[in-house]
Amino acid sequence: MTGNSVALRGAVLSFTASPFDSPADTCFRYEPDGLVLVTEGVVTDVGPAAERLQTLPEETELHHYPHGLIMPGMIDCHVHYAQTDIIASYGKQLIDWLNNYTYPAEQRFSDMETARRIARFFLGESLRSGTTTSAVFCTVDAVSVEAFFLESEALNMRNIAGKVLMDRNAPKALLDTPQSSVDESQALIDRWHGRGRAMYAVSPRFAPTSSAEQMELTGQLWQANPGTFLQSHVSENLGEIEWVKELYPERLNYVDVYHHYGQLGERAILGHGLHLSESEFQVLHDTGTAIAHCPTSNLFLGSGLFDFERALAAHRPVRIGLATDLGAGTSFSQLVTMSEAYKVGQLGGYSLSALQAFFLATRGAAEALYLDDVIGSLEAGYEADMVVFDLAGTALLEHRQAQAESIEDVLFLLMMLGDDRSVEATYIAGNRVYNKADGATLQYAV
Ligand code: GUN
Ligand code: ZN
Repeated sequence: MTGNSVALRGAVLSFTASPFDSPADTCFRYEPDGLVLVTEGVVTDVGPAAERLQTLPEETELHHYPHGLIMPGMIDCHVHYAQTDIIASYGKQLIDWLNNYTYPAEQRFSDMETARRIARFFLGESLRSGTTTSAVFCTVDAVSVEAFFLESEALNMRNIAGKVLMDRNAPKALLDTPQSSVDESQALIDRWHGRGRAMYAVSPRFAPTSSAEQMELTGQLWQANPGTFLQSHVSENLGEIEWVKELYPERLNYVDVYHHYGQLGERAILGHGLHLSESEFQVLHDTGTAIAHCPTSNLFLGSGLFDFERALAAHRPVRIGLATDLGAGTSFSQLVTMSEAYKVGQLGGYSLSALQAFFLATRGAAEALYLDDVIGSLEAGYEADMVVFDLAGTALLEHRQAQAESIEDVLFLLMMLGDDRSVEATYIAGNRVYNKADGATLQYAV
């Protein structure tokens, strides 16, 4: 429980630097038989079990995972909880998919009971997949945000979420106005940002669904609330990019729209970024804006292939975090997402290593969100959000892992063959909220 001490024993892995710009053997700490000690929800010590067990305070509750790999909880940098009911909807690309499936589904979130039920299911699936923090789009209705944060708070989760702002090019029932959207967003920021572990993201859906006036006020709102996030979408689909050119003819390109309206900077996260020009990457780098890479979504909607090499170019690297982008994305599991990221990389001639993939869902994602001093690593002082992977979660994995010769082999097999069956347990602030042995039941904090 949060107030007491708990110790997890098993293999422990946490990154200390980026495997994109440090040699592989210097960027992580690995204890084959380690102990993570947690007190009052915070990691207080990580070290070899044999040594640390000698000095373990007597009242400490010990959870031993002889076949488990303990890691910081997975972080999902871009996801839509209100699209849970339309995952795997057939046959469309972005704009038709939004019109045919997404907008009808999002209209149901003006009802608190529906919104809480779906939020609870969404968070349960996230935890079953080992994801402990997500940057979440709610819908245009403030109720959808209230519902999400209430459910997140009941689990004591560090989640980022916000109300979608959109005042054009969507069904009437989903439109706000420039003034109502910023007034409602400000009220939600005042109520939720920094309450417990909740964090707020100002969430203009994407440039096509906001008027110039709404874009202007949205940028001002974000600038007036330091510490909050801003999340949106950029350069996902070729038709979408043409549309943005028509709607904003005076702007240089898609990224320039957000730049012009003061929506880029630290803690701004843009989903996708598949078809960006060199000058757009440069602006993202200069402003410290992050891209959320969403491989299952990009493949599902036929949007395109993310270019790791260009995004990470050494002269102007852009911060990248891994993301599911449900409901265009097709899996809650960041393991599955890593596997698809690997395949996307392969098609572009870039072979993402297992260390790089796991970094993008832990410390790298935390860096993209500017939360790398709080979550994404297992070291003394970090919040104790953790996943315990079961390396033998399926018969095939058990069979194949027997041949692994290094931690890199172990991780690569886990990301290529793993899914929610590979999650043994998930901890939020030291509290085991999900335990595979107990089935789908979640342990609520309050
Ligand atoms: N662009 C604008 N809205 C959305 C959305 O809900 N999902 C995806 N994948 N792209 C978007
Ligand atoms: Zn999205």
